[in-house]
Amino acid sequence: MKRVFSGVQPTGNIHIGNYIGALKQFVELQEEMDAIYCIVDLHSITVPQDPRALKQHTLDVAALYLSVGLDPNKAIIFVQSTVPAHSELAWILTCNSYTGELSRMTQFKDKSKERESAPTGLFTYPLLMAADILLYDTDIVPVGNDQKQHIELTRDLAERFNNKYGKTFVIPEYRGTKVGARIMALDEPTNKMSKSAENEYSRISLLDTPEKVKKSIMRATTDSDGEIRFDEKNKPGISNLLTIYSVFSCLSIQELEKKYTGCGYGQLKKDLVEVVNDSLVDIQKRYFDIRESEELKRILKDGTEKAQTIAEKTMKRVKENLGFITL
Ligand code: AMP
Ligand code: TRP
Repeated sequence: MKRVFSGVQPTGNIHIGNYIGALKQFVELQEEMDAIYCIVDLHSITVPQDPRALKQHTLDVAALYLSVGLDPNKAIIFVQSTVPAHSELAWILTCNSYTGELSRMTQFKDKSKERESAPTGLFTYPLLMAADILLYDTDIVPVGNDQKQHIELTRDLAERFNNKYGKTFVIPEYRGTKVGARIMALDEPTNKMSKSAENEYSRISLLDTPEKVKKSIMRATTDSDGEIRFDEKNKPGISNLLTIYSVFSCLSIQELEKKYTGCGYGQLKKDLVEVVNDSLVDIQKRYFDIRESEELKRILKDGTEKAQTIAEKTMKRVKENLGFITL
């Protein structure tokens, strides 16, 4: 059976972009593959985090994993920092990578541009991500389009290592969704929807109230030509709304274009509010049941043990091939 691995950072505001680009695929793939899903807290400290909030957000994301439909009987769910091999392998990959290839990562370029001085962790972030993936002999990595370059780097690193030290790693593949690999911000549909944008109406978080969802969608930036048609280049706002609508309603974009022929943007938005809220209500109901339960920590503990067993096997192979002694 093929193995799927992915991760989400434990920062607040998990939004419908994360859901559509990543989480929804996680749920689908757990049915057909050997699935491992991680909450990547080591990645989140590449920028400053408040320790108390970090702890809460880690449990929040774990609870969201379960509420969107991940099943601990089908998938291993665990927190990255509870398996030390991630940091260990990241160092080994650091010593087998080049500053030139890391400097080309667009996420690093974007994130460091906003700061006077870039934290080193932001620069080496893709190596930790590569370690996450390679530790579990991963075949498929479902992520949003923004992470594709990191998967390509992971493949390069794995191939380089295998060539130098003998076959050690499985070469992983990127898997994006057909619809919605890049959900755009509602206020500025030429930027991707992000957890950190200042305007809270630029995104819809999975835990938003129905009123907030309504405001965000009704305020969404569109265009003035009045036609409901999918055209990402000339009509990014309407195309983004159609994408979101399609994912939450299971109607295709073509079906939606047909349904809304001759209708105004107001009608489309009003219906979309209802479609999104219907889905979020279900997720939120499960979330509030799970979030404070003892069950949640038990699932994470069990996940750590299972992940650890797999990671240890890979590390043994890595160390042997590198020439580290075992005593
Ligand atoms: P992060 O919040 O950076 O940990 O992202 C978690 C997952 O959501 C990753 O697979 C991202 O690629 C994906 N993702 C983040 N933003 C978007 C977006 N606007 N559209 C689609 N996928 C996204
Ligand atoms: N970098 C990813 C993001 O920001 C999160 C991540 C960390 C990840 N490690 C991973 C995704 C391994 C897939 C596989 O979204």
